[in-house]
Amino acid sequence: MSRHRIAVLPGDGIGPEVVAGGLRVLAAVARRFGLEIELVEYPMGAAGVAAAGEPFPPATRDAVQRADAVLLGAVGDPSLDQAPRHLRPETGLLALRALLGVYANLRPVAIHPALLDHSPLKPERLRGTNLLIVRELTGGLYYGEPRGNDGAVAINTLRYTRAEIERVSRLAFKAAQGRRRRLLSVDKANVLETSQLWRQVVTGLATEYPDVTLEHLYVDYAAMRLVSDPSTIDVLLTENMFGDILSDEAAVLTGSLGMLPSASLGDGPGLFEPIHGSAPTIAGQDVANPIGTIASVAMLLRHGLSLPEPADAVEEAIATVLAAGARTRDLGAGPGEALGTRAMAERIAAAIR
Ligand code: IPM
Ligand code: MG
Repeated sequence: MSRHRIAVLPGDGIGPEVVAGGLRVLAAVARRFGLEIELVEYPMGAAGVAAAGEPFPPATRDAVQRADAVLLGAVGDPSLDQAPRHLRPETGLLALRALLGVYANLRPVAIHPALLDHSPLKPERLRGTNLLIVRELTGGLYYGEPRGNDGAVAINTLRYTRAEIERVSRLAFKAAQGRRRRLLSVDKANVLETSQLWRQVVTGLATEYPDVTLEHLYVDYAAMRLVSDPSTIDVLLTENMFGDILSDEAAVLTGSLGMLPSASLGDGPGLFEPIHGSAPTIAGQDVANPIGTIASVAMLLRHGLSLPEPADAVEEAIATVLAAGARTRDLGAGPGEALGTRAMAERIAAAIR
């Protein structure tokens, strides 16, 4: 039996609590399927700064490169908001993504039937929503040079190469082939040259995936479509910055940012993390929703370790527990009814079949 090595980076704020929940469920699924999993834990973000003076310390860097997959909680801490850029937790996260070369960020947004009433959108608009955002993750404004701010002028650079667009687009076309075979590419080609290249490259690739229906939308209109008619979207492909914004918008559909997982994939180990942030105001109180992390563990099993059956088991356990009425505070549980982070993870672990 093969042994899987997972680098665990709990990070900051609620990160350690939700990661503990994810690991609780991972242990249950490993027992059920007889998986041998080795966990190694390293500091990241503000925890990295505290432990080793930098947000992405060298020991963490070594560990993620030697792992089969990386599970991350969240990074970010208000105490470092004014820190110089090299000390900021977010800088560490961007360096982690770049080092692993995880150019494609997958953010699935599905509405659990049991939570239809909890969304701010009317149930009839939401019904049938099951979409996948594929966000380019290692290019664009986040990484472009030159960049800087001298107090009088600030500059960031939006730059994309054909090769960068091609590899993430191929992954999105293939993802669409395994789903409803619709690809929506989002850009701002009426204004930006990078978007014009984006559209050319995606359109050119479409001939290789004739079974996929391709549509292009400008990002402003796509933002509207996401809330006015989300069930018409299957796979949404876009560049780094647009994907950052649209994925938070899409998360609202589910009723809580705490529900959503993500997978960041490249040619080496993948990075798996919930999309919510470190939520420092509720850290350490056992109230955070661990489902985003538990669902990220499912993505880790599926995409990081190629273990679809254990991944299905985790997703089914989440659905079972939600259908039975279990709710954390963010899912609208009333006083006295809300499960804490630990209790929710425990329920899901117990529901693994
Ligand atoms: C995300 C986050 C990050 C991003 C931040 C923390 C740098 O918002 O993963 O969406 O902008 O990529
Ligand atoms: Mg974001």
